[in-house]
Amino acid sequence: MGSFSTFVFLFFGLVLNGAVFCNGGKTSSYVRKVEKSVDMPLDSDTFKVPHGYNAPQQVHITQGDHVGKGVIVSWVTPNEPGSNKVIYWRENSKHKKKARGKVYTYTYYNYTSAYIHHCTIKHLEFNTKYYYKVGFGYTVRKFWFVTPPAVGPDVPYTFGLIGDLGQTFDSNVTLTHYELNPQKGQTLLYLGDLSYADNYPNHDNVRWDTWGRFIERSAAYQPWIWTAGNHEIDFAPEIGETKPFKPFTHRYHVPYRASNSTAPFWYSIKRASAYIIVLSSYSAYGKYTPQYRWLQEELPKVNRTETPWLIVLAHSPWYNSYNYHYMEGETMRVMYESWFVQYKVDVVFAGHVHAYERSERVSNIAYNITNGLSTPVKDQSAPVYITVGDGGNIEGLANNMTEPQPAYSVYREASFGHAMFSIKNRTHAYYSWHRNHDGYAVEADSMWFFNRFWYPADEYLSAH
Ligand SMILES: *[C@@H]1O[C@H](CO)[C@@H](O)[C@H](O)[C@H]1NC(C)=O
Ligand SMILES: *[C@@H]1O[C@H](CO)[C@@H](O)[C@H](O)[C@H]1NC(C)=O
Ligand SMILES: *[C@@H]1O[C@H](CO)[C@@H](O)[C@H](O)[C@H]1NC(C)=O
Ligand SMILES: *[C@@H]1O[C@H](CO)[C@@H](O)[C@H](O)[C@H]1NC(C)=O
Ligand SMILES: *[C@@H]1O[C@H](CO)[C@@H](O)[C@H](O)[C@H]1NC(C)=O
Ligand SMILES: *[C@@H]1O[C@H](CO)[C@@H](O)[C@H](O)[C@H]1NC(C)=O
Ligand SMILES: *[C@@H]1O[C@H](CO)[C@@H](O)[C@H](O)[C@H]1NC(C)=O
Ligand SMILES: [Fe+2]
Repeated sequence: MGSFSTFVFLFFGLVLNGAVFCNGGKTSSYVRKVEKSVDMPLDSDTFKVPHGYNAPQQVHITQGDHVGKGVIVSWVTPNEPGSNKVIYWRENSKHKKKARGKVYTYTYYNYTSAYIHHCTIKHLEFNTKYYYKVGFGYTVRKFWFVTPPAVGPDVPYTFGLIGDLGQTFDSNVTLTHYELNPQKGQTLLYLGDLSYADNYPNHDNVRWDTWGRFIERSAAYQPWIWTAGNHEIDFAPEIGETKPFKPFTHRYHVPYRASNSTAPFWYSIKRASAYIIVLSSYSAYGKYTPQYRWLQEELPKVNRTETPWLIVLAHSPWYNSYNYHYMEGETMRVMYESWFVQYKVDVVFAGHVHAYERSERVSNIAYNITNGLSTPVKDQSAPVYITVGDGGNIEGLANNMTEPQPAYSVYREASFGHAMFSIKNRTHAYYSWHRNHDGYAVEADSMWFFNRFWYPADEYLSAH
């Protein structure tokens, strides 16, 4: 419904105005019943502690190298460190292998973490199902994952997108709909703001543990690719906690060294036909900073013959027409937007604003202080900007929008939900957004993406 009506609207806009860039797009007429989002209580089924002495909990995986042959397995043992071993084997193979990890603990105000394990498995075969076990010595638990196909230009692959999830009853609906989506997400791109533990007194880190148990049912079986959000900072000098990102960096490891990054907040991975660059809205990004220098060296390395799809993740959106977090992404946009146009990024996904929005292909890079050129213009080399900060956390929906809807905004709606980005081949990817209110298969907004390198045609002028 979304893409077709948008198409019709833009098409007639073009014919009538003769201008390339006309009025704003669609603000959904769907208005969600306003109810407060409520965190699931500590005794919810979603937070259940697995049976057995020292049983591993909060099991989750992420990509463990640059190309998808590695997996980082993470878990928490509550009573004692126990074994740091992961035993893993190919489906239908009797040959069991083992990898050893490391165990970490941290304290946060008066909270002391349990034993947090991270173990990187390397040199896996592509496109293969593996089983793995953790928790030796006491209670052993078994899971599985499927490695991605070898990196290559025409490899179909489906990514899910969730941001700002938190741990409310709505969060549980979002995750359930993602799990049941018939498009079958193979890897989840997580757009930042995980547990929202910092909304509790003293950032009660018990809520980091409950969140880990909540997402295990998905994250133990498919990689979640992590982006850092503002709720990961946990900077609380009033209680003596002055080291930013302490709980997040202890609990969620990412393969940043594999892309020559020097910090776990910005890094890249290749996966199937996609090159994914993760940026940090909450680390320095000005000129000469480590993140700036890394990105400057990183973008020219992307080989679109190998990985046609260039996807960027960052928590704070650059194009956001809600009256929440308005212009917070602006300084980073000013620093990096011209690079995104130069290197023809296909799409930028963000979270942070607790609602949904999709933009035109626009850029705003002509401004030079005195020339007055500070309006976004349609630009076929520019990415589409999509905000999916609508996971359902305790802070509720952002429903106050700037009016009129700006020309760059194609579709916006204040509903919780998740999105899917399904790459078909080097030229086409199908994108859809699914609001929680509907059945999990219903698409409230959708769009065929044309790859900026291989097929840089205007999606909105195509009858696709
Ligand atoms: C931490 O301190 C708060 C009050 O400051 C208290 O309510 C809570 O029970 C304490 N937690 C632990 C684990 O000691
Ligand atoms: C969360 O969703 C699952 C379905 O995926 C359901 O079984 C469970 O009862 C829900 N829990 C809560 C607390 O809403
Ligand atoms: C990282 O740097 C090393 C040494 O310069 C280089 O060999 C390697 O290819 C780089 N890796 C990536 C993913 O850029
Ligand atoms: C880009 O990737 C293709 C396909 O893997 C390869 O043939 C080509 O040499 C690469 N180009 C560069 C500049 O590395
Ligand atoms: C800014 O743009 C104006 C108008 O194009 C031009 O005259 C001026 O030289 C530019 N200033 C700088 C510093 O580039
Ligand atoms: C919406 O946001 C604007 C700008 O911040 C504010 O002036 C207005 O009062 C808000 N409206 C509502 C209904 O909260
Ligand atoms: C790429 O996928 C699109 C959408 O499924 C399809 O229409 C197109 O024919 C495909 N291109 C090739 C070369 O197979
Ligand atoms: Fe945020």
